[in-house]
Order: sequence, then C-alpha cells, then structure tokens
Amino acid sequence: MTAPGADQYCVIGNPVEHSKSPQIHAAFAAQTGQAIEYGRRMAPLDAFADVVRDLIAKGYKGANVTLPFKLEAASLATRLEERARAAGAVNTLSFIDGEIVGDNTDGPGLVADLTRNADVALAGKRILLLGAGGAARGVMLPFLQQGPKTIVVANRTRATADALVAAFQDQVTDVRACGFADIKDSFDIVVNATSASLAQEMPPVPAAAFGAGTLALDMMYGAAPTPFMLFAAKQGATTRDGLGMLVEQAAEAFAIWRGVRPATRELLSTLRA
Ligand code: ATR
Repeated sequence: MTAPGADQYCVIGNPVEHSKSPQIHAAFAAQTGQAIEYGRRMAPLDAFADVVRDLIAKGYKGANVTLPFKLEAASLATRLEERARAAGAVNTLSFIDGEIVGDNTDGPGLVADLTRNADVALAGKRILLLGAGGAARGVMLPFLQQGPKTIVVANRTRATADALVAAFQDQVTDVRACGFADIKDSFDIVVNATSASLAQEMPPVPAAAFGAGTLALDMMYGAAPTPFMLFAAKQGATTRDGLGMLVEQAAEAFAIWRGVRPATRELLSTLRA
C-alpha cells in the first residue's frame, strides 16, 4: 500500500530481489520524516527503457539503477550530471518535468565512506585503483576532486587501464596506468574495483602494495571478507568492504531526490550486525 501523498521510487535491476536499497531508503525516510515509498522493480534484460517509461507514467519521482542497466540508463537520460557523464554510467534517475535526469552517486558514495566513516582524507594520498571497468571509471572524477597525490590504475588488460587514465589527466594529481606486476611500492589506499570478488577470486596484486598504514577497500561486500581483504589484512593493512559505499551512495541519491542528506553511521552498524 502506498501511503497517501508519498512519492514513489524504486531500484531497477536484474536480478534485484537481494537489493538492500529498499531497506536503506525506508530507514532514511523514517529518520528524515520524508514521505516516500521505495520498492524493487525487476526489468527484463531487453526492456529497461519500457520499465522507466512505465514508472514515469505511474508518477514515480525517480529510481536507482543497478546491474546490468547502468550504461543503458546513461543513454536513456535526457540530461546527465557531470559526474554521470564522467563515469559513463548512471545509478540515479530523477523524473523532473518531462526530463530524465541521470546522475551517478557510486563514486561520491565511496569518497563519503572513506572520508566520513573510515576517517581517511584523500588529499595528498597515494591511491592504487585495481580494475579499469565501469566501477573504476565511476570513482575517477570524485577521487580527483579530493586532490590525491597519485592515482595508479592497475588492470589485467593493460590497454584498458591506459585508456581510462588518458581520459582523466589532471593538473594536481599524477594519474598513471600499470599492470599488476609493475606494482613495487606500498600505497595509502588500495581500492579493489575489479569484479574478481564476485568469483571469490582476487586480482593478482603483489603484497608490496600493502603496508601497515594502508587502507584496503573492496567495493564488494558479503557475509565474509573477500579474498582481497584477507590477503591485504595478512600484509598488515586495515581492510574495509563495500557496505559503507552502498549506504553512502544511497544517501547521496536520497539527497538528490529529497534535498536532505540522511545520517548513515547508525544504519551502517545495524546492517553490519
Ligand atoms: P564493473 O562494472 O564491475 O567494473 P567491468 O566493466 O566488466 O565490470 O570490469 C571488470 C573489471 O574487473 C575489469 O577491470 C577486469 O579486468 P579486465 O579489463 O582485464 O577484464 C577486472 N577483473 C575481473 N575479474 C578479474 C580477475 N579475476 N582478476 C583481475 N581482474 C579482474
């Protein structure tokens, strides 16, 4: 049942039944007193655009987009925010006055998790980004906006890392590409943006990348630490999974839609427990 006057939102994906987004947004709504309803919508692989049009026809105000539709959402949007254009992908849609506005809060969510929850500032830091696919691309602009000293992008397919780095040259930050075997020094922050954890694998990153002062963050999360997190911890690094990023990207989306940014710390501990 829709509460009278509540604005409607949902997450669109395939699969989508395990998404935590409805639970997260319900908690944000309760906390901020915003009248919203947030559900799940499974889209057939060839019918993402139809689902979006149906939501608009039903008066929905927006939607989150998850795998595998983030690229399609970017093409469907009639207007793209700068960070969505830079990411080449959209995870947040707003339906405003006949426009489909696409934004991407994944990268800002990761930055928020690092700076607010893990208390790690990125300015002046040496960052190693593992992977050069969509997830890695999405964090490049938000990372650069924090002014790190270096971002090294390491990928199994070196040419993809080269192409990514070429698109994000910067005045302040030294941005460069390499293969995993080229990594010789330790970094302040190592982010696993590869999809290796999905297969319970880890990217072949050398132990030398990690030191006692390293924060190693995997964008994935699950009941148990990923192979990447276990390996990093063995080298003395502090580890973190992607649950905080998930909650923070949701908070950024909520802020776009409702103009109020919910607090996240308590929800994050509830979800962890
Ligand atoms: P996503 O949207 O999750 O980033 P993607 O665009 O398909 O998905 O990119 C997947 C990334 O994970 C790529 O960087 C891929 O490396 P390649 O470009 O060499 O394919 C990386 N990846 C996936 N499995 C990996 C593994 N087992 N070891 C190392 N890298 C892996």
